[in-house]
Amino acid sequence: MAENTAIRIALTKGRLEKDTVGLFEKMGFDVTELREKGRRLILTIPGQNIEVVLAKAADVITYVGLGACDIGVVGKDTILEHGGTYFEIADLGFGRCKFALAGKKGTDFYGGVGVKTVATKYPNVTRHFFESKRMDVDIVKIEGSVELAPLLRIADGIVDIVETGTTLRENGLEVIEDVVPISARLIVNTVSMKLKKERIEELAAAMQNALA
Ligand code: PRP
Repeated sequence: MAENTAIRIALTKGRLEKDTVGLFEKMGFDVTELREKGRRLILTIPGQNIEVVLAKAADVITYVGLGACDIGVVGKDTILEHGGTYFEIADLGFGRCKFALAGKKGTDFYGGVGVKTVATKYPNVTRHFFESKRMDVDIVKIEGSVELAPLLRIADGIVDIVETGTTLRENGLEVIEDVVPISARLIVNTVSMKLKKERIEELAAAMQNALA
């Protein structure tokens, strides 16, 4: 009965997509269409009654929040930055990295007087981090390659995603302080969680078993 319930899953395009497709394969799903998708954005998993929608991270949250998709796979970074209404039901463990405060090597970020400027693609995460320290900072929103900001002297520090640390290292920057660890999460629309509970729980359990 449960396996006949149609499910639409929103996947964050890119690395999380690859990891999730790998996981589906491990679960015994036929992922041919997902691997040979070309430019198509809506795909199916034959025999599973599952439709897969490929979207940018923030849009995964929008589609799941609105109920256009029942389930989403998205990074904790996007969840923390964008909020929204949905259930976060599982930590999938892959896509591991962290948010960190970083600056030019040897920077005494917390020293001296005056309000510090912090550049980031994630202003909400940054605001919460410094609010929790009761520290007043000026936040500058940057769209990408945030590491440039201290090098171009428009910021004392950055709050950004650090995975291997290569980008920081190759640009003469270093981590000043870890902010929060990040990994891929499974999110579920609140109505789907009620109407398709059995199927969603079954699927989430199968995903977690395959990960174990
Ligand atoms: C992310 C992040 C860092 C980099 C960290 O950037 O913003 O720049 O990856 O990875 P590392 O620690 O392994 O070097 P992304 O490649 O997503 O592009 P962006 O800089 O344009 O945001």
